[in-house]
Amino acid sequence: METALRTSLPETELASRANFAPHARVVREERPVHTSGPPLSIRGLRKSFGDNEVLRGIDLHIPAGQFVAVVGKSGCGKSTLLRLIAGLERIDAGSISFGGEIQPEDIRVMFQEPRLLPWARVLANVEVGLGRDRASGDAHARAEKALAEVGLADKREQWPSVLSGGQKQRVALARALVSRPRVLAFDEPLGALDALTRISMQRLLERVWRDQGFTAILVTHDVAEAVALADRVLVIEEGRIAHDVVVNAARPRQRGSAELAGLEGSILSHLLSADDRT
Ligand SMILES: Nc1ncnc2c1ncn2[C@@H]1O[C@H](COP(=O)(O)OP(=O)(O)OP(=O)(O)O)[C@@H](O)[C@H]1O
Ligand SMILES: [Mg+2]
Repeated sequence: METALRTSLPETELASRANFAPHARVVREERPVHTSGPPLSIRGLRKSFGDNEVLRGIDLHIPAGQFVAVVGKSGCGKSTLLRLIAGLERIDAGSISFGGEIQPEDIRVMFQEPRLLPWARVLANVEVGLGRDRASGDAHARAEKALAEVGLADKREQWPSVLSGGQKQRVALARALVSRPRVLAFDEPLGALDALTRISMQRLLERVWRDQGFTAILVTHDVAEAVALADRVLVIEEGRIAHDVVVNAARPRQRGSAELAGLEGSILSHLLSADDRT
C-alpha cells in the first residue's frame, strides 16, 4: 500500500465539508458549462465473489457532471464498483440509477492498459469506440475530431506499436470520447505512465471533462491525482464509503499548493490508518 501512495504525508488538519463551505460558490462556477452527464444514485449496493463480501452497502449520489475520484487500498473494491456502474458486472443487491434515460453506449470505461488493436491503425482504433455507428458516413470525421481533441491528429495513420505509452493512452482516451459518452469511468488510466506524462494527461482529462461535461468517475491509487482532478474524493474501506471529501480548490488547480497538499495529507492519513487496522 505505501508504495502505491506517491507522496509523503504532510502535517495537516483533517478536511471537512464545513471547512470549505464558504468556497462552495466558486466550485459551482468551475463546473462544465454544458453538462451532458446524468446524475447517478447508488443505494445499498452489495457485491460478493463467493464468500468474499467486497461491497457491503454503498450509498452514493453523484450530481450531474461531477468529477468524482475513488481511492482505497488494493483489493477494497474500487474496480468492482466501477464495473458495476458501467454495467460490466451483475449487482447482488441494491440499485444504481441514472437520472433520465441512459443507453449502454452513453457509458465508457478507460483502463490502465490502452487495449488498442495492434492490427488496426490509430484512426481505426478510435473508430472502434463508435460501436454501431462505426458504419455511419461521419465515422472518420468523428474519429479525427476525437484524435485532435487529444492532440494526436498527426498520428492517424500510425500503427499502435510505434506510439509511446502516453500516446497510446491518448488514443484510448480518444476512443472513449468519440461516442460522446455521458458517463466516463476511468480505472487507473494513468497508472502506467511516468510522472511528467501523467501530469500532462491529468490536464488533458480535466480539459475534456470541462469541454464535454460528462459525469466522471476516476479510480486511482494516486491521492495527489485525485485531489488535482476531482470535485470530491471517496475513500472506500471495508466495503463502504468511509470518507467523502469535497475538493473546493479553484480550477485550473495549482498542483503542489498548500490547499491541495493539505487535502492530500488528510486523505492519506485516512488510508494509512485503515491500513494499520488491517
Ligand atoms: N471476477 C472476480 N472473481 C472473483 N473475485 C473477484 C473478481 N473481481 C474482483 N474480485 C475480488 O474482489 C476484491 C476487490 O477487487 P477489485 O478489483 O475491485 O479491487 P480494487 O480496489 O480495484 O484493487 P486494486 O487497487 O488492486 O486494483 C478482491 O478481493 C478481488 O480478488
Ligand atoms: Mg482495481
